[in-house]
Amino acid sequence: MSDSERSFLFLVGSSRADGNTETLARRAAEQLPPTTDRRWLRLGDLARPLFEDRRHEGEGPRPATSSGLAERLLEATLAATDIVVVSPLDWYSVSTATKLYLDLWSGWMRVPGLDFLERMRGKTLWSVTVHGGQDPATAAPLVGTLRHTADYAGMRWGGALLGYGSGPGDVLRDTAALGRAKAFFS
Ligand SMILES: Cc1cc2nc3c(=O)[nH]c(=O)nc-3n(C[C@H](O)[C@H](O)[C@H](O)COP(=O)(O)O)c2cc1C
Repeated sequence: MSDSERSFLFLVGSSRADGNTETLARRAAEQLPPTTDRRWLRLGDLARPLFEDRRHEGEGPRPATSSGLAERLLEATLAATDIVVVSPLDWYSVSTATKLYLDLWSGWMRVPGLDFLERMRGKTLWSVTVHGGQDPATAAPLVGTLRHTADYAGMRWGGALLGYGSGPGDVLRDTAALGRAKAFFS
């Protein structure tokens, strides 16, 4: 498949905006050929509770409306040739929002006529992660989760890019990870 036929979907599962993991993923994405299509979606809304007690915050309760995010995610997932899970290491695994995205697959697999798994076959799954601890080996459960998911869906495994950083922007000091980002998609 030529570069211009590939379409990368970056799914950002951080619990904060402009997090380390997104920063690292954007460094990797900068190296994609200019003709390669790319799209970024945030998974954060998936982890938002249906009900938040905001009675005493001035704005009052917010009605539980569907943002349509799940529908957008389905369309974007099926349209992509390459899916990049951009999740921080949270409790040794993917973030809650990322896990909820994967849980959506279980529903999509069972939608009559959608042929979700058949359409996932042959796509490539990638992982970009930043961890705040000292030992990168503790990211093994996250990488295992995604590798097994790729196997299960008949997808290719692109690989895992791992960086280190705790506070906002810290990953920019992980020069080794920034170097690996440059070659990650090549
Ligand atoms: C809920 C939560 C759980 C975390 N669990 C881990 C962990 O298990 N191992 C680790 O190394 N860092 C852990 N961290 C630290 C984050 O991985 C680190 O701060 C990372 O930079 C966050 O990425 P982000 O800026 O993209 O959100 C955790 C942070 C949070 C908020």
